[in-house]
Amino acid sequence: MSIIFSGSAALTLSAKVSKHSGIPLGQVEIKKFPDKEINIRVREEVRGQEVVVIQNCTGCPNSYLMELFLLIDALKRAGARSILTVLPYFPYCRQDRVAYSGQPISARLVASLLERAGASKMISVDLHKGQLEGFFDRPFLQLIGRKLLIETLKKHPFEKPLFVAPDVGSIKIARAYAKDFGTDFAVIDKHRHHTGEIEMRPIGEFNGAEVILVDDVCSTGSTLVQAAILCEKKGAKKITAAVTHALLVDDAEDQILTSPIETFYYTDTVPVKEELNLHDKFISVDIAPLIAEGIAAMVS
Ligand code: R5P
Repeated sequence: MSIIFSGSAALTLSAKVSKHSGIPLGQVEIKKFPDKEINIRVREEVRGQEVVVIQNCTGCPNSYLMELFLLIDALKRAGARSILTVLPYFPYCRQDRVAYSGQPISARLVASLLERAGASKMISVDLHKGQLEGFFDRPFLQLIGRKLLIETLKKHPFEKPLFVAPDVGSIKIARAYAKDFGTDFAVIDKHRHHTGEIEMRPIGEFNGAEVILVDDVCSTGSTLVQAAILCEKKGAKKITAAVTHALLVDDAEDQILTSPIETFYYTDTVPVKEELNLHDKFISVDIAPLIAEGIAAMVS
């Protein structure tokens, strides 16, 4: 028997995953003490059970992460046999190395703290870098959300799309999409000079192409929007974007709305503003069935 517990930032997704998996949602109170410390109480018998915890850490990553650590600790102390932690978007994933001396490897520390809190297994979706799996020493399942975006894109009449990585870090993603479609990919080489100036150099033939910009994360939207403007200048006849994790911080939504991107496909690994889907340009793809499948594979 298994139970799903939701962190306060993943209530909608957890309810959908519960429906798809048939695993009931457990009762947990998540409140704040007057001094703003988090106050958690699990209101369910979990002794000897395999439990699942789902949390999202976008918006207020530090606070939601702390809530997750405390929820895992509470479940461990209440006697749960194992705790499968589902973080569809892995927080701090882009800080996976010491890029400049004096920096931490934040993603590594997040993984260690999850383990230390009591997470026995992990599920995440489309990791920023594959090596993140190795930061967690226990079983880790990376789900490929890209497959759902591919299924959705295939329902639309693209003749011969050109998948474009908006920076070199996304080449593997563009290659994977292109392989699935049996078509080609191109890259935009984005380079920041020591003066702070950003140079974007397209590598590939864009004239007349149906461009599909692909990335794992869209945060401020700047990378995708600048890439789209460049593709348009280079003669692309149609520009679409597909990303797994639509963080859409600051004015990303407005930037995308006024950009040459015609349609922006994203999975609902992280919550977005409700108003987003009022715009035809934004199309959400449901990630819950894939997460439910992943949970089924990880719990006995
Ligand atoms: C970079 O490594 C990522 O793949 C994304 O391209 C980047 O994080 C997007 O950030 P933003 O939307 O703020 O440009």
